[in-house]
Amino acid sequence: MSLVLTHRVADPAALKTPLLILPVSKGSMPATLAGVDKAVGGVISRCWASGDFTGAKDETALLYPAGGIERVLLVGMGDAAKVSHALVRRAAMIAGKRARTIGATAAAVWMPPGCAPAVEPERVGQCVAEGIPFGAWHYPDLKRPSENPRPLFERCEVITSEESAPFAQGIERGNAIAAGQSFTRGLQVLPGNTCTPEFVAERARELAGRHGFSITVLDKAAIIDAGMKALMAVAQGSALEPRFIAIEYEGAKSAPVVLVGKGVTFDSGGISIKPAQNMEDMKFDMSGAAAVLGTFEALGRLRPACHVVGLIPLAENMPSGTSYKPGDVVGSHFGKSIEVVNTDAEGRLILADALSWARRYSPAAVIDCATLTGAIVIGLGHTASGLMGTDRALMDAVTAAGEAADERVWELPLWDEYRDIIKSDIADVKNSGGRAAGSITAGWFLREFVEGYPWAHVDIAGTAYTEREPPTQVKGPTGIMVRLFAEFLLARR
Ligand code: BES
Ligand code: MN
Ligand code: ZN
Repeated sequence: MSLVLTHRVADPAALKTPLLILPVSKGSMPATLAGVDKAVGGVISRCWASGDFTGAKDETALLYPAGGIERVLLVGMGDAAKVSHALVRRAAMIAGKRARTIGATAAAVWMPPGCAPAVEPERVGQCVAEGIPFGAWHYPDLKRPSENPRPLFERCEVITSEESAPFAQGIERGNAIAAGQSFTRGLQVLPGNTCTPEFVAERARELAGRHGFSITVLDKAAIIDAGMKALMAVAQGSALEPRFIAIEYEGAKSAPVVLVGKGVTFDSGGISIKPAQNMEDMKFDMSGAAAVLGTFEALGRLRPACHVVGLIPLAENMPSGTSYKPGDVVGSHFGKSIEVVNTDAEGRLILADALSWARRYSPAAVIDCATLTGAIVIGLGHTASGLMGTDRALMDAVTAAGEAADERVWELPLWDEYRDIIKSDIADVKNSGGRAAGSITAGWFLREFVEGYPWAHVDIAGTAYTEREPPTQVKGPTGIMVRLFAEFLLARR
């Protein structure tokens, strides 16, 4: 379960807490800290005087005063004038991670007035409530129980000196989004032998039940019946049956936004098998699916006035005697034939059927997200997701949502010239154009199955999980796209 922040008006100097978190900007010790400093016996001013801490971005200092405040954690955000919502969120993440690492069971956060003058109070509240649980997130317990388990970080309150309705609203919004993102990460991190297509479907049914969403899960027979031949082609090499989830939140009677997430629960590459090095990371190939479900968790808590449908094709990509093979020509829900030149380009196949299925909703917009190509990691690294699409206004809105969420996207062109690369001699389209412009040709392939709605595609192969440990989170799943989708949907109301 995700940490839920509470809000309270209090004098930070009068607190009793195992950990007081103080995000501060760069410079000499702010005068606003004088009261707390006095309450903790001057340990904060001494820390500043030592020169050990200046408030620079990502800088931290953990202090152990005597008295009701057992620990003080200073977290730097850099120059006050340049402190953005992203830096507030980042400082909160760093603090959340530290709190969890040191084994604090409870904490209080106080933002000294004026430490983020350029960020609106509502945003500050939201970013703190998103950041602390994000940083504190940890792996589910799959290890043998330890004899002295680390205590859980279970309670965190945010302190303000005055009542502020926008700030409190921000906290509430941040809590909901954080819960969605934790849900996503919890699903992402699970290994492929646990997190199967049916397992994801069951999590989706539970989620829908909790929030009163309508949900349909197509099993193998129903998928065949619906004519999802491309999804079936990917699934046919696995001992596990595919699933197709359609989940719906109808908070308004308007044309829906449809979110589509790639749900390959393990991608071995199939007959075009991947090298063994890092193949284990391909348990994360359902990150798009997990992001869509996490977004619904946030929607269920926020219940905004919008209409959203989530579509999730789920399959495992495996080599076997029943696998689809390079050279095979397979059909699709849309009706186009596909020459499979590489069985490792499977994500676009299952997404093609979902994008085609989406037409039945007459959507206002369709956004898919997928760990689709290794090429996007070469192009954009782990800093931004790749954006492609057919509609300028939609892509601008996705970009703006990415900025607000600090889950940034960067556009790649879908120029006609790139379409030629996936021309097939024998079928309507082939599923890979080789290495050149690998992310764009994947985008173009998807576009072949898009009809009648504005569409955007986000390639999250570089952003869905981390192999190195940043100061903001443990290694592994990032829950990418939950904050972006939430911002996108909340901005549309
Ligand atoms: N799931 C992979 C993409 C991926 C790569 C995700 C690295 C995360 C990290 C996808 O299914 C894939 O294998 N893509 C191929 C496409 C190629 C065969 C045209 C790739 O990128 O190599
Ligand atoms: Mn693949
Ligand atoms: Zn894949």
